[in-house]
Amino acid sequence: MKIAIIGGTGVYDPTMLENIQQQQVDTPFGEVQLKSGWYLGQEIAFMARHGSHHSIPPHLINYRANIWALKKLGVEQIIATTAVGSLNRKMRPGDLVLVDQFLDFTKGRAATFYEGGQRGVVHVDVTEPYCPHLRRILYDEARKLNIAIHQQGTYVCTEGPRFESPAEIKMFSILQGDLVGMTNLPEVVLAREAEMCYSTVSMVTNFAAGISAQPLTHSEVVEAMSLSGENIRKLIMAAIAALSDGDCHCREALSEYGGFKL
Ligand code: HPA
Repeated sequence: MKIAIIGGTGVYDPTMLENIQQQQVDTPFGEVQLKSGWYLGQEIAFMARHGSHHSIPPHLINYRANIWALKKLGVEQIIATTAVGSLNRKMRPGDLVLVDQFLDFTKGRAATFYEGGQRGVVHVDVTEPYCPHLRRILYDEARKLNIAIHQQGTYVCTEGPRFESPAEIKMFSILQGDLVGMTNLPEVVLAREAEMCYSTVSMVTNFAAGISAQPLTHSEVVEAMSLSGENIRKLIMAAIAALSDGDCHCREALSEYGGFKL
């Protein structure tokens, strides 16, 4: 299995795949449940980040187990989805964004496979945290499908599970964040440590607190995702059909350390 989809809020089912099977993978961080299925002759892994009934909050997701499990299955390329609030008036509800940078405001999440001891210490490079090759394919396919998409954006990751205060959103705007969500960190960094290509398609579900005049609700986010979730599905399937190996360096990220080992 070389390709995986990680579905965020509103993307819980691999309905686009055929012959879907439940998989259970053991990792040093715990057991992971995921699904696999077939598309165009390729076996694809599908993982619902919050569980298939949205039962795992962002700060309790077992990010290390999830990424380890995908690596163990042989996955090389990951396309993830996230629902996000927007701080940028040009990125409107319903738009998709191929984020290319992040600001990490999470607190105390287990964010590395390298905690010293036998595995040692690793300082992974994240100059280009999201795979440029996957982002290019996703952008080209979105354009072909006439889907509104932004080629770049800075994702601010908060700890959650609460939404942000307007003062926090103002601060993130000053720091030039475009979008705010609760799950992209440490997922993107762990994928890089595991030497996998990783990209995120972010779906804007709302303007962030204080930009939007109304209080935010989770049902508003879920509703917006179900209205535009079809675009994400179409885009991911088109991108998978067009996937190739690229000229990126994601899969050599730890060459200085002798490579990632399971
Ligand atoms: N903030 C944080 N996470 C989110 C938001 C938001 O406004 N919308 C969707 N996910």
